[in-house]
Amino acid sequence: MALYVKAAEVLEKAERKQGALKTLVYDSKFKNIKQLFALVCETQRFSSVLLDIIESTKLLKQTKLKLHLAQVLVYDLLMGQGLKCGGSFKTTMMKHRPRLQAELARMKVKRKVSRNEDLLPAEAQLPSGEQLPRYVRVNTLKTTVEDVVDYLKRDGYTYQGQASRLDDLTLKEKSFVKDLLLPELLVFSSKTDFHDHFLYKAGHIILQDKASCLPAYLLKPPSGSHVIDACAAPGNKTSHLAAIMKNKGKLFAFDLDAKRLATMSTLLLRAGVTCQQLAHQDFLKVNPDSPQYKDVEYVLLDPSCSGSGMVCLQDRSSADQTRLASLAAFQLRCLNHAVRFPRLKRLVYSTCSIHSQENEEVITAFLQQNSSFRLVPLLPQWPERGLAPLSQCLRASTSKTRTHGFFVALLEKHSEALSSTLQLADQIRSTPFYLSKKTVALEASDPEDPQTPNTEDAPSGKRKRPKRKKKKME
Ligand SMILES: C[S@@+](CC[C@H](N)C(=O)[O-])C[C@H]1O[C@@H](n2cnc3c(N)ncnc32)[C@H](O)[C@@H]1O
Repeated sequence: MALYVKAAEVLEKAERKQGALKTLVYDSKFKNIKQLFALVCETQRFSSVLLDIIESTKLLKQTKLKLHLAQVLVYDLLMGQGLKCGGSFKTTMMKHRPRLQAELARMKVKRKVSRNEDLLPAEAQLPSGEQLPRYVRVNTLKTTVEDVVDYLKRDGYTYQGQASRLDDLTLKEKSFVKDLLLPELLVFSSKTDFHDHFLYKAGHIILQDKASCLPAYLLKPPSGSHVIDACAAPGNKTSHLAAIMKNKGKLFAFDLDAKRLATMSTLLLRAGVTCQQLAHQDFLKVNPDSPQYKDVEYVLLDPSCSGSGMVCLQDRSSADQTRLASLAAFQLRCLNHAVRFPRLKRLVYSTCSIHSQENEEVITAFLQQNSSFRLVPLLPQWPERGLAPLSQCLRASTSKTRTHGFFVALLEKHSEALSSTLQLADQIRSTPFYLSKKTVALEASDPEDPQTPNTEDAPSGKRKRPKRKKKKME
């Protein structure tokens, strides 16, 4: 019941322009932020249809429900996962269900469509095939991929092995696969809901979009290392980092927002993370010269952004340029602050934004100001690259990678250049799933092929000059 009351509150506040949807959801103090966010987004997307149904069936008059509460309940009853409550809400809604269903069916007949999606105005429709799969990251601090697969098979799910093409990620009902790239990621149909599942409640699985798994996966801090997660809450990437570090080493996580940090504490506890040190602190005010950070070699920076890549927030109109400029300035300040940690080797930067102002432009400005850092060419098999000339970076989208819109760049100090070359070689050696084996063999063997990310590329995309012969020592 609490879910619906909170969702209604958020929608009402959003309508009164008391804050952005995402912020209102995080500020709601609801324990399952993702579940609330998904419900609120979808209810808002279907609001025109829901209003029609509520109006035609005179639901408010007959039930005394308030409008926003009625909207979320009707959404979940007719279009979502089915009502996830008991008590008076359920009794009321079940009583009116036949009339509500009949009204929805009548609307479809009248508009000559068969899917709920087709009832929406064009700008609110997700292009067909753009329903995102449900991604599940196995929390290796608590279990193994094999154990989770076995558990789910016994629970009635059908395991189809490892995906080998992007199309394999379009799944039906209770089928699931292992992801084609990320070893700890399982993929299910978009309708699958694990929020009430034992594995989720016990912290054995984390519900995390595939693109959002990239930053920690690419940063790959070794077990025992010292790492900073600069803007960490609600902490999915922090728990991923801890899993990669096998809970060994030190993981300093900062966030400005106390409420989001509280959510994060619960999430990390459930996930069995023990190597973290959480701080309610502005990252820009953390002193890089403090002795406690002297061994920090890795930073994950996932700062506040426009969120324009989140499917349900996708703003198909043009973006507010003033807001983008102010976000980009903040993002650049965070990057510049991160590189002040004296022993920093690698820094991963990510946003869930589709705007180049927050992505390639921030990285370009950073590289202009920090000549000792360079971009590491990432995952040659990943199908969507940073906008030219930053093809070393990755982008993600519903159409090309079946994820939310995302951007990720990995920066390293020049002295680390050799290790990045080795990493690229590793990536090429690992099975290149997105491309046919033949294509990859050609690309790997042909350094002149323009599609092959070149480890020698300078940030501007220009080739480095050949090294001059060293002068003989006197
Ligand atoms: C995109 S979210 C981070 C999501 C997180 N990395 C995850 O995977 O769960 C950005 C976060 O940055 C925090 N933030 C914004 N400005 C900050 C600052 N100056 N210092 C620390 N955290 C900040 C926000 O409160 C927000 O929680």
